[in-house]
Amino acid sequence: MYFLRKAEIKNGQKVLIYGASSAIGTIAVQLAKYFGAEVTGVCSSANLDMVLSLGADKVIDYTKVDFSKSGETYDVIFDTVGKSSFSGSIKSLKKNSFYLKTVHMDLSSIFRGIWTSMTSGKKVKGGVTVEKSEDLNFLREIIEAGKLKAVIDRTYTLEQIPEAHGYVEKGHKKGNVVITVDHE
Ligand SMILES: NC(=O)c1ccc[n+]([C@@H]2O[C@H](COP(=O)([O-])OP(=O)(O)OC[C@H]3O[C@@H](n4cnc5c(N)ncnc54)[C@H](OP(=O)(O)O)[C@@H]3O)[C@@H](O)[C@H]2O)c1
Repeated sequence: MYFLRKAEIKNGQKVLIYGASSAIGTIAVQLAKYFGAEVTGVCSSANLDMVLSLGADKVIDYTKVDFSKSGETYDVIFDTVGKSSFSGSIKSLKKNSFYLKTVHMDLSSIFRGIWTSMTSGKKVKGGVTVEKSEDLNFLREIIEAGKLKAVIDRTYTLEQIPEAHGYVEKGHKKGNVVITVDHE
């Protein structure tokens, strides 16, 4: 919500979610569809069907195709995993558009982002999520209405947390990993 709000996402816009199988990506695909966007998800071969089942209109297998070489342009490119190419993404944006990045940028990327935002209509936005209670209430409502679902890959107990971290750190989880905590 935090990032899509920054992009002022609108009905009918073309949105590309890079890393559509990540925790943020699986939610971003569904939210962008909910807001009426035409959504393209970028993921690996193993996750194409899952991303389509979340509502993506198109999927691109990053192991076979570089989306930035197709000539398609987008209103929003949302990189949820920090692996898209900066120049390729900027090239694939329309005139007034947004490049969103959830992953911490190094200094040179920050300067490139500021320069790009100042000298073109293409805005580069990062930052750290700030949760607002109105957003959480909105998300609860659409989850209860069956319009947003969490993709859960694996579940671990609190005692298994080292294994859970080990799995997550491999960088290939589908959606989320859950830690269950026993309580009375
Ligand atoms: N800014 C903020 O406020 C904020 C908040 C939360 C999280 N984050 C950051 O956001 C990042 C994403 O976190 P996450 O938990 O959603 O996901 P994650 O666990 O880091 O991402 C795993 C997913 O990324 C896919 N992936 C790996 N390499 C890829 C590539 N080259 N191209 C496209 N997809 C690729 C993997 O699928 P395959 O293995 O099949 O490719 C897997 O499904 C993390 O770095 C996290 O620290 C930032």
